[in-house]
Amino acid sequence: KQVALASITIFGAKGDLTYRKLIPAFYNLFISHHLPSTFSIFCVDFLAVDDAGYRDWLLEGVNEFSRTGRADAQKWTEFAARITYVQGDFMKKETYSTLKGQIQKFEDKQQQRGVRMFYFAVAPRFIEVIADALCNQKLCNRDTLDRIVVEKPFGTDLDSARKLNRYLSKRFKEKQIYHIDHYLGKEMVQNILAFRFANHVFEPLWNNQYIDHIQISVAEEVSVGRRGGYYDSSGALRDMIQNHLLQLLCIIAMDCPKAYEAEAIRDAKIKVLKSTRIYNTEQVFKNVVRGQYAAGVVGGQPRRAYREEEQVKPDSTTETFVAARFFIDSERWKGVPFFLRTGKNMAKQSTTIMIQFKESPHKIFKDDITPNQLIISIQPELEIGLLFEGKVPGLHMKLLPMEMDFMYKDAYIESLPEAYEALLLDVLDGEATQFMRADQIEWAWKVVMPILNAWEKSPKKQLQSYESGSWGPTAANAILKPFAKEWFRLNHEPLSELA
Ligand code: BG6
Repeated sequence: KQVALASITIFGAKGDLTYRKLIPAFYNLFISHHLPSTFSIFCVDFLAVDDAGYRDWLLEGVNEFSRTGRADAQKWTEFAARITYVQGDFMKKETYSTLKGQIQKFEDKQQQRGVRMFYFAVAPRFIEVIADALCNQKLCNRDTLDRIVVEKPFGTDLDSARKLNRYLSKRFKEKQIYHIDHYLGKEMVQNILAFRFANHVFEPLWNNQYIDHIQISVAEEVSVGRRGGYYDSSGALRDMIQNHLLQLLCIIAMDCPKAYEAEAIRDAKIKVLKSTRIYNTEQVFKNVVRGQYAAGVVGGQPRRAYREEEQVKPDSTTETFVAARFFIDSERWKGVPFFLRTGKNMAKQSTTIMIQFKESPHKIFKDDITPNQLIISIQPELEIGLLFEGKVPGLHMKLLPMEMDFMYKDAYIESLPEAYEALLLDVLDGEATQFMRADQIEWAWKVVMPILNAWEKSPKKQLQSYESGSWGPTAANAILKPFAKEWFRLNHEPLSELA
């Protein structure tokens, strides 16, 4: 299936994404022999740098951020020889004619026309102008060999997302557009489909008859860092819930697709979004809690309050934490709440999905029984655990929660590919299963729009403060009631100790 020839263009060559994620990912694909036998990477940005200086800068990024550690000198030299820096302003026509000349020269030399990938690692304001130029200058033709890769944010609300989708779909076929949500490239996220649909044990229980509720948590230890300017006009709902968490919700809640194939999977996911209950303003304030971090300590280091971060307004009401209760109005999920939460500056990094099963309907033991929990830990550990009740060894019938646990690090010693490696390879292979389709993005916006609108109308209403290094505002506990007792404890101790 591997393509033989590809030209890869990155717009935003001097940006953070290229430095920390894209080039390290391409380098790892190169050393593991996953890149096409002949490829060239064109990196476009407006700053003046020569090829050698640019490659040295990229090497620093690889040495610091690649999962495989410091680059091997010889392999790096081989890889870097294929990187060309193209200096140019995204707004100017000449940039694209220079680029076109370079790509054509490369293809002519090979005497064949391979895949052309164009990666938009740029601020949203450049997406339309670059797309337009790629189309006008016939760099990216209406041919599925030519592909564009767009990073989130896909718009800032439903209207702008629709506008962007219309703009792109006038210029390219849907099959040429790869909307990246890097959570879909994470190893354990991809494993959820395998776990659910390749095993017959769980699927019969995957419904409101056996499942009490589901919690999806994405706790981040990091602050907004140097991204205050972007973040302050975005907030956690747009930055995390609209995309990453709703995608996780789709994967957990979707029906079995017809086949493991892009359209079937995306159709199954969209069905979840279409069935997700849309709130009115009053329901928003009952079902969704927002918070903003105050100063505190994370991992032993002092952290300042959000309002003191660089480029953040001192009276900002932007949320850095969201906890929400969603319902999916379908036969399978009727009455089952899905609790989603995410926040920055929290006690520990943890992305975990907890499926809480119901109690046994008939009790024959005296002990308190903890109902089963299935725990899917996505990061930092990759782990699937099942909590069950068992007999404590000894002369009496005493029960305690026990654990069946599968940890990737015990089973697989080699380091796992990064999300970007998996996704970039998919683009080269023309594999769109792990990418979002335009209509999916719009439906995800439809789910969050009432929340955005309610908050925008009343910016201060119920905005909670939480200490940095905590698990978020205590007000988040209220939305669990009357369905659940507490948020799943994300402290990554052996699962059985959490019971
Ligand atoms: C990005 C958000 O999409 O995802 C960031 O913009 C967030 O704010 C990041 O920190 C989280 O990704 P990960 O892979 O570190 O969990």
